[in-house]
Amino acid sequence: MALPIASTGLKAPQHRTKATVEVSAARDFTSRPEYVREVRAFTRDALAGLDHAVGDIVLCVSELATNAVRHSTPHDGTFHLDIRVGRDKLRVECHDSGSKKPTLQTPSDADEGGRGLLLVQALASRWGVSSRPLGKCVWFEIDGDPSVLQGCRRAGRADS
Ligand SMILES: Nc1ncnc2c1ncn2[C@@H]1O[C@H](COP(=O)(O)OP(=O)(O)OP(=O)(O)O)[C@@H](O)[C@H]1O
Ligand SMILES: [Mg+2]
Repeated sequence: MALPIASTGLKAPQHRTKATVEVSAARDFTSRPEYVREVRAFTRDALAGLDHAVGDIVLCVSELATNAVRHSTPHDGTFHLDIRVGRDKLRVECHDSGSKKPTLQTPSDADEGGRGLLLVQALASRWGVSSRPLGKCVWFEIDGDPSVLQGCRRAGRADS
């Protein structure tokens, strides 16, 4: 199904230049759980060669993608992932077609879920949700020059 921004495929394979954008990678994925592994591989490929905290970023993207799969309508539609690395920050957007917005949970030790966005909040500099004509975009940013991003982790807060 159509998603808010029209873009499919890897727009530009990862490259390192002196331009503002060092990585710009975007793709639509089928909204099914088995495609989340493709999201992880896509993210790792997009960030290959950059000295990022790649493991943390893949973890955050994986949480957003899992949520998008769960909340896309219809359930076997698509969601859209956009990864950009500029000179001073990395930004990931995950667009899904569901109208409901995420809310941060405070799970008890007994609760099985409710920790995905807490992980994103802990690892990213900031995260938030933006409305789109069809659904919404859940995003996070990690500050820092790509070459030193590893050391720029700090607890973030939700922005809208
Ligand atoms: N893209 C989304 N659209 C609508 N609701 C969402 C979306 N992402 C998360 N939510 C909701 O926001 C809340 C927090 O999400 P979070 O990812 O932290 O927990 P969870 O998905 O319930 O559990 P877990 O990620 O630990 O498996 C949950 O109620 C979840 O259903
Ligand atoms: Mg989740």
